[in-house]
Amino acid sequence: MKVFIAGATGRVAEVTIKHLIQLGHQVTAGARQPERVNPLERVTAVKLDLHASINELSEIVKNHDAIYFLAGSRGKDLLQTDAFGATKLMQAAEASGIKRFILLSSIFATEPEKWSDPNLRHITDYNIAKYFADQWLIQNTNLDYTIVQPGNLIASETGSGKIELNVRKSQPNTIPNVAEVLSTILDKENTYRQIIQMSDGDTPIAQAIATI
Ligand SMILES: NC(=O)c1ccc[n+]([C@@H]2O[C@H](COP(=O)([O-])OP(=O)(O)OC[C@H]3O[C@@H](n4cnc5c(N)ncnc54)[C@H](OP(=O)(O)O)[C@@H]3O)[C@@H](O)[C@H]2O)c1
Repeated sequence: MKVFIAGATGRVAEVTIKHLIQLGHQVTAGARQPERVNPLERVTAVKLDLHASINELSEIVKNHDAIYFLAGSRGKDLLQTDAFGATKLMQAAEASGIKRFILLSSIFATEPEKWSDPNLRHITDYNIAKYFADQWLIQNTNLDYTIVQPGNLIASETGSGKIELNVRKSQPNTIPNVAEVLSTILDKENTYRQIIQMSDGDTPIAQAIATI
């Protein structure tokens, strides 16, 4: 498939792109500084700033089969990037006839009653931004979406390749595990219109995803 990545220089995005290439897909890497995108075969870097208008975003993402939103502002630009940037990209997808949309969100972003979890109570503004983006995707689009909600991300060279789904509290996730989930679900129709609440765990990723 021809896949567009928003936030391509991010930690999760860089590993996800590698997985997607290994799976045989072709990647357009959208970044504010395209010169910082890893120069890999089958990856084309393009300029993308999520402050752009829906029309401008549509021009950038057109002619792709799927879009990943893997960007984030680390709390510095929650309204314009994490919230509105995501919803504009969804509208650009619909305007360009792209059906598949994968949104990297955060654990329990759609469940405000769980934001008192000790790992989440200090990031309420972030969760509100993600809630807005997740709910927009669910309520206001006809996209074939999947929302991936991991708990806290852990930098690691390798992942265990094993995860737990339907977690009840926020738990750690190595970035390679999240990237493998993101790339594996691309063409899995059983993950359409689903929220994947995950952490590192004991079930091989492909096996866990097959149960959704
Ligand atoms: N940290 C956690 O524990 C955790 C837990 C669950 C979910 N998440 C989610 O996972 C996401 C990805 O994590 P990560 O560690 O890979 O993030 P990251 O390394 O901070 O990457 C975020 C990417 O978003 C890009 N970006 C920021 N503002 C943008 C804009 N206006 N337009 C276009 N691109 C923009 C950044 O580009 P620049 O390099 O140009 O700034 C960067 O490439 C986070 O944003 C968060 O929503 C995080």
